[in-house]
Amino acid sequence: MRQSSLVVVANRLPIDDSVAPDGACEWRRSPGGLVSALHTLLRHTPATWVGWAGGTGTAPALPDVDGVRMHTVPLSAEDLRDHYEGFANATLWPLYHDSVEQPEYHRRWWEAYQRVNQRFAEATADVAEEGAVVWVQDYHLQLVPGLLRALRPDLRIGFFLHVPFPPPELFMQLPRRAELLRGMLGADLVGFQRAQAAHNFAQLVAKVLGVPATDRRIAVDDRVVRIGAFPVSIDTVEMGALATRPDVVDRASRLRRDLGSPDHVVLSVDRMDYTKGIEQRLKAYSELLADGHVKVRDSVLVQVAVPSRERVGQYQILRDRVEREVGRINGEFGRVGEPAIHYLTQPFDRAELAALYRVADVMAVTPLRDGMNLVAKEYVAARVDDSGALLLSEFAGAAAELSEAYLVNPHDLEGLKQGLLAALRASPDDTRTRMRAMRAHLHEHDIRAWARSYLSALDDSGSLLTRLGAT
Ligand code: ADP
Ligand code: F6P
Repeated sequence: MRQSSLVVVANRLPIDDSVAPDGACEWRRSPGGLVSALHTLLRHTPATWVGWAGGTGTAPALPDVDGVRMHTVPLSAEDLRDHYEGFANATLWPLYHDSVEQPEYHRRWWEAYQRVNQRFAEATADVAEEGAVVWVQDYHLQLVPGLLRALRPDLRIGFFLHVPFPPPELFMQLPRRAELLRGMLGADLVGFQRAQAAHNFAQLVAKVLGVPATDRRIAVDDRVVRIGAFPVSIDTVEMGALATRPDVVDRASRLRRDLGSPDHVVLSVDRMDYTKGIEQRLKAYSELLADGHVKVRDSVLVQVAVPSRERVGQYQILRDRVEREVGRINGEFGRVGEPAIHYLTQPFDRAELAALYRVADVMAVTPLRDGMNLVAKEYVAARVDDSGALLLSEFAGAAAELSEAYLVNPHDLEGLKQGLLAALRASPDDTRTRMRAMRAHLHEHDIRAWARSYLSALDDSGSLLTRLGAT
């Protein structure tokens, strides 16, 4: 078994299998914030990525991707149902996102969560060199740090949560709350997107486990676990370069023409997820059309909503409702050849996304709750001429950094409509000043800065950073 000195452990590998039209199996980058962040970072690093390849049954042997070794962990159909679709995405995901949908609690799901976390811990123990740094990602694998420490006490273990960590009032609902906290405390460093999340965690550790904790350090047995906020980011330079590529510039012009050369293009790009506020946004847009504040010939909304977690009931219900609403709005307000909303559910490559960002005069990112939201950051990075308005939910982690965006509360329909109108009607001077400030922030706080701050806190020797080329 080949071993590595840096091992990233995430539920999902950075590639998805898909069958090409000619029947061949091809691999493509899976949509989602975690993959977007880490894929860029690890490219050409002699690291191993431990994760699930997206199917069930025997784990396929995968080739290295951009120099990174892929180590697959198999999931059975039952694991998929009870771990991924169950405990991870129907218990933890809604609970951690303000319970915007009701979390479900089933003992069978918890058993699967433990079993799959154990399998990930064992797979990681197999591929980690003596003294390696292991970086465990996200809510699917909260028990892995503790389980891995029991198997391999020689490792330096980091854990990073990409999603929000909820306040005690919500987390306390979890039947197995103590075990989850103990699992995370198996790490040397527990990272969150926001300082509030670290604070919530410290409070819960004190309350549930009776262990004194500050927002920075927790003494567990004979170890100190550090905690802190490390807001994740994007490869700002790469997105800027992509957005200026001649083929992407041409593609953006063609897209605008294909959209009927409207005065305003409003764009939203989301996974089809109830946390993203898609229904609220459609309602706001529909009311603006009905009020006559927005006219079909002048403005067009492009809603990209790539299907996600398609077998989870709440996601199926959402997709049906969104599609019905898009149909209703187009039926009511569209004209022949001029739909009010262009609705796309396809995964796009990075160049197509960059062209879409280029063409969007207003980017509407209005989740009800989001750990960070990298789409908002990608849009800003793609606006190389400092034009364009970002309409951003106060409840996205990104709002703490991109405070010059047009900030809205997506639960407030009137506020959402006013925010969208303000973004549509903003003067070029105003949008330019705001965009410049946000772009300057992202140039400093990019994905490498994120890795630098997290990994230097995890591995104070600095050797890891040098190998990553992140210094
Ligand atoms: P989440 O992690 O909840 O999915 P983020 O906004 O943080 O939300 O990250 C989403 C990532 O997935 C972004 O990098 C975005 O570019 C990518 N993405 C979203 N929709 C698509 C799509 N249709 N095709 C390809 N990539 C997509
Ligand atoms: O960023 C949150 C997150 O859940 C990631 O962990 C995940 O990879 C991404 O969204 C996409 O979700 P999924 O892996 O369920 O398709």
